[in-house]
Amino acid sequence: MVGPLNIQRSPQGQPVIFQAGDSQQGRELGAATADVIFTHAASIAQGQAFYQDVKSRAERLGRNPEQILVLPGAEIYVGDTDEQAREIERLYHHQDHSFELALKEFGRNFGWHDFSQYDLDAPFPQQSLESARSSFFTNAKRIADQAREKGFSLRQAVEFGRQLRPGAFVGTAQTVAAKMAEWFEARALDGFNIYIGHPGQFRRFTQEVVPLLQERGIYRSAYEGTTLRASLGLEIPRFGALEDGCL
Ligand SMILES: Cc1cc2nc3c(=O)[nH]c(=O)nc-3n(C[C@H](O)[C@H](O)[C@H](O)COP(=O)(O)O)c2cc1C
Repeated sequence: MVGPLNIQRSPQGQPVIFQAGDSQQGRELGAATADVIFTHAASIAQGQAFYQDVKSRAERLGRNPEQILVLPGAEIYVGDTDEQAREIERLYHHQDHSFELALKEFGRNFGWHDFSQYDLDAPFPQQSLESARSSFFTNAKRIADQAREKGFSLRQAVEFGRQLRPGAFVGTAQTVAAKMAEWFEARALDGFNIYIGHPGQFRRFTQEVVPLLQERGIYRSAYEGTTLRASLGLEIPRFGALEDGCL
């Protein structure tokens, strides 16, 4: 049978588009097409710079910058004291990033290139960068360039990558909530792409940190709607046909 498609548009208009990419082209693509942009930020200043960059690109492209959300990844560890939280961070980091695992994961930036084929103590295999062309290219190139500049072997590059870089969101529930608020209020982000790899830590975050964020009025106490788009505060995109009054 031939005829018009008799399927209704979803309640959120169209799926929410998440994008990530750090090159100029990646940022331009995000500014033009994304509803939400994943990124990483090592400091408030770095977060602010990315935030301002993609929001102003979006504005230049005629989009409302408020309708593009910037969500950096955040690794969170909650403890009874700030020192204990740092201890938990160290413990889990070493547990979760053994050399064997780190070597496997190292390939991710390079389009899941198999690094186990190389001699660990030979110079870093620069040819692996070819496999990253349609993957996390900006990250992969940074790793490969650094390995060349520092004369790293593959082992040294993996060791360097798996070093603990103490996170910004580690401490008591009060410390973590205050840090999250600080980044949000400094317009370094619109929200967080939270990484919590351990169930006990997830419980601590939801039971101890979230209520403090709610008290501060920067986290919801009830859902705004029934869709992901509504929860993110994103409008339903308007299409030509809708504006003409047709469905
Ligand atoms: C912080 C960050 C998170 C990413 N997350 C994902 C992801 O979840 N899934 C995915 O397929 N690619 C992910 N990517 C890869 C990007 O979508 C993109 O392919 C890659 O970064 C290459 O673009 P670039 O050179 O502009 O960075 C991520 C990239 C970054 C920088």
